[in-house]
Amino acid sequence: MPRVYIKTYGCQMNERDSEQVAQDLTARGYTLTSDERQADVILINTCSVRDQAEQKALGKMGMMRNLKRDRPDLILGFLGCMAQSRGAELLERLPDVDLVVGTQKYHRVADYVEDLRAQFTSAAAAAPVVDTAEETGSQSTIRDHLNSGPAPATAYVSIMQGCDMFCTYCIVPYTRGRERSRTISDILSEVRGLVERGTREVTLLGQIVNLYGRHEFPVVNGKSPFVQLLYELEKVDGLERIRFTSPHPAGLKDDLIGAYTELSKLCEHMHLPLQSGNNRILRAMHRSYTRELYLKKVERLRAARPDIALTTDIIVGFPTETDAEFQDTVQLVREVAFDNCFVFRYSERKDTPAAGMQGQLSDEEKEHRNQVLLAEVNRIAHAKNQQLLGRTVQILVEGPSKTTEERYMGRTRQNKIVVFPGGERHRGKLLDVRIQHSSGFTLYGDPAIFD
Ligand code: 5AD
Ligand code: SF4
Repeated sequence: MPRVYIKTYGCQMNERDSEQVAQDLTARGYTLTSDERQADVILINTCSVRDQAEQKALGKMGMMRNLKRDRPDLILGFLGCMAQSRGAELLERLPDVDLVVGTQKYHRVADYVEDLRAQFTSAAAAAPVVDTAEETGSQSTIRDHLNSGPAPATAYVSIMQGCDMFCTYCIVPYTRGRERSRTISDILSEVRGLVERGTREVTLLGQIVNLYGRHEFPVVNGKSPFVQLLYELEKVDGLERIRFTSPHPAGLKDDLIGAYTELSKLCEHMHLPLQSGNNRILRAMHRSYTRELYLKKVERLRAARPDIALTTDIIVGFPTETDAEFQDTVQLVREVAFDNCFVFRYSERKDTPAAGMQGQLSDEEKEHRNQVLLAEVNRIAHAKNQQLLGRTVQILVEGPSKTTEERYMGRTRQNKIVVFPGGERHRGKLLDVRIQHSSGFTLYGDPAIFD
């Protein structure tokens, strides 16, 4: 049986897309391997959101080429965002690559791999394949999950593709294309299938997930298509928790805030990208809200669900950002008291509006702001975790802890990771644990009642 190794960079969308590719290949008799030296096919699913992510994928492929020197029939492929934005240019740079497949063609990967393998059997070399075309309906092709064995306790469900917001720093609208959504019934049947196989929690995925369906489906009784979907999911028997990522503050309206008062399965966590706490920079980023509006939405969310955990994304060193403007961000982070923030140094992306702006900042300045903000983020997160010590919280057990194998890990409804002394019998269970101590962003606990 041919073996395939898949390496994934970037966001949860990419992880989910890789899972679909893995399922398509295993359905055709391939086996997955975590050792690239054992693989007959190596696929790298790429991210373009920052230069660093692109460099990592290019570096990895550079190393994979060494394997091909000894094994000319090894198939090397680039998938995803960088494949989409660079296309055939990747073959000029890395001529050993056989396959470049963009973001609307993941469902074609298995066919292409089979074709390439057939060509390798009949000849010494195969013609490389590049497919970065658009495809109508491609948003509905990410729907299958690995179906060997029981489904995982928590699963990603892709509900839409693309983004029409065009923030000035962001490459995603160019790599992922226009916004397009699956139907509610299609999504529900995927979730029901997962739940039948043991899944207890789903995370709905979309680049701006709360704008799901806005171009396709009507608002009904004041509820946007996204909120309609949440109400439908609440009714799925056996599903215990609903999450989603990432929403845009612009679409965070009364209907979604109201859902937090009515839907018990909706978890107490929202990842709500802020990007900057300064109004001039927000405008230059083409983010359609102000710091005041963001704060107001946070206040209303907390009124609806007092214990909601909030996390965010922030870009430091956007072109022309002054130190005083950066301080506005630091101050807002303090005021909201986020449970966690992902801080990114602005990275110039080719052909985006911000890349051409005057007033790009030096790497040193961006790094300095990164450090200042991170110190603040860590301080706040630590204080928040301290408040959880001694408390009993519910976790959904996902499996063995990645850092300490003999322990198990799960997540609280607030999306905090808890490591505890558990075993296989706990997998997939909702368990009450008492928090004993915290370190970094991880909490350590013990089952509150031993079973
Ligand atoms: N530079 C740095 N960070 C970026 N992000 C998106 N584009 C860029 C860029 N050009 C960040 C945003 C987004 C997250 C996924 O990545 O904060 O929310
Ligand atoms: Fe990376 Fe964004 Fe593409 Fe996800 S959508 S893979 S974060 S560029």
